[in-house]
Amino acid sequence: MRYRLMAKVYLTRRIPEDGIKLLEERHEIEIYEGDAPPSKEEIIEKVRDKEGLLCLLTDPIDKDVFNAAPKLRAISTYAVGYDNIDMEEATRRKIPVSNTPGVLTETTADLTWALIMAIARRIVEGDRMVREGKFKGWGPMVLLGNDVYGKTLGIIGAGRIGQAVARRAKGFNMRIIYTSRERKSDFERECNAKFVGLDELLKESDYITLHVPLTEETYHLIGEKELKMMKNSAYLINTARGKCIDEKALVEALKNKDIAGAALDVFENEPLLTPGLAELDNVVLAPHAGSASIETRTKMAVIAAKNLIDSLDGKMPQYCLNPEVFEKQR
Ligand code: NAP
Ligand code: GLV
Ligand code: GLV
Repeated sequence: MRYRLMAKVYLTRRIPEDGIKLLEERHEIEIYEGDAPPSKEEIIEKVRDKEGLLCLLTDPIDKDVFNAAPKLRAISTYAVGYDNIDMEEATRRKIPVSNTPGVLTETTADLTWALIMAIARRIVEGDRMVREGKFKGWGPMVLLGNDVYGKTLGIIGAGRIGQAVARRAKGFNMRIIYTSRERKSDFERECNAKFVGLDELLKESDYITLHVPLTEETYHLIGEKELKMMKNSAYLINTARGKCIDEKALVEALKNKDIAGAALDVFENEPLLTPGLAELDNVVLAPHAGSASIETRTKMAVIAAKNLIDSLDGKMPQYCLNPEVFEKQR
């Protein structure tokens, strides 16, 4: 029998079973079993004796957590976005951090499209109306929405998910414009997409969809000024991170009908909503469900488990966010 080192590992939530099984075979795991994210205090208490941490995007992995975890030597996050983790501190401590990019791209693009269709064609309003017995039969003016096909789609952040959203738009015969840090010629060719500046994108798009990571540069990327630049008939869709939009300014813009509507999967102070948002008819609100399909969440669990196992074995995990921690010291 091979001798294998067992490490103490903490999971801040139960993930799909395939991932749990992989981890259990190799390590001693403890799982937070609550149905809402653990508090920071709970995480701090639990990481004291742990070498491995499998966390979620809801967990603030900041200096306090690192300070409380002297034995910590591997972090795996069950997400692609990692704005919740103090990467500088992890790297300073030579702790590898890994994530689950790619596997959730198509699933998140599908959800983005579900939101585009839902807000444009007033699906949620219609559902409420029918359930409440207010549907009196087909009518020429009942719940008229806006067309999607043939319109202009503005993609902010043409990475994996942004490009997958654009590929779907081809089937709707949309004109695609995008902004990103760099031009992408393969993408431009494939989707007939045009690279524009943010201002031009805001002014020309009928549907604007956000796919940037949350960083210092993208915090409140869309605020009062940007909302005012959008067409009155335009819709804003966000499946990136809530903090990329100034939610207070958005509520004002929606109230004033500066824009036609918004469909949001993520919120500035998740899970809390800015007052006024939930009272508006011209919004569709989803519970951060971008990657929430059975298949994708299962794949994410396996990747997150493998990432953590490899990191604890001292090997570079497949999806390492700070590969420099593996560089040999000279
Ligand atoms: P990605 O492949 O890294 O794409 C992000 C793109 O954003 C990159 O292509 C980058 O552009 C661009 N970007 C970064 N900073 C920018 C800036 N300041 N201005 C303009 N563009 C900028 O990431 P992804 O896999 O598509 O995921 C994107 C984000 O979606 C994640 O970070 C996460 O926060 C969010 N997400 C949410 C859900 C959900 O459940 N709602 C699910 C998955 C992901 P360049 O390539 O030009 O540098
Ligand atoms: C979800 O929001 C992710 O970043 O994976
Ligand atoms: C609508 O149902 C139609 O037939 O036009």
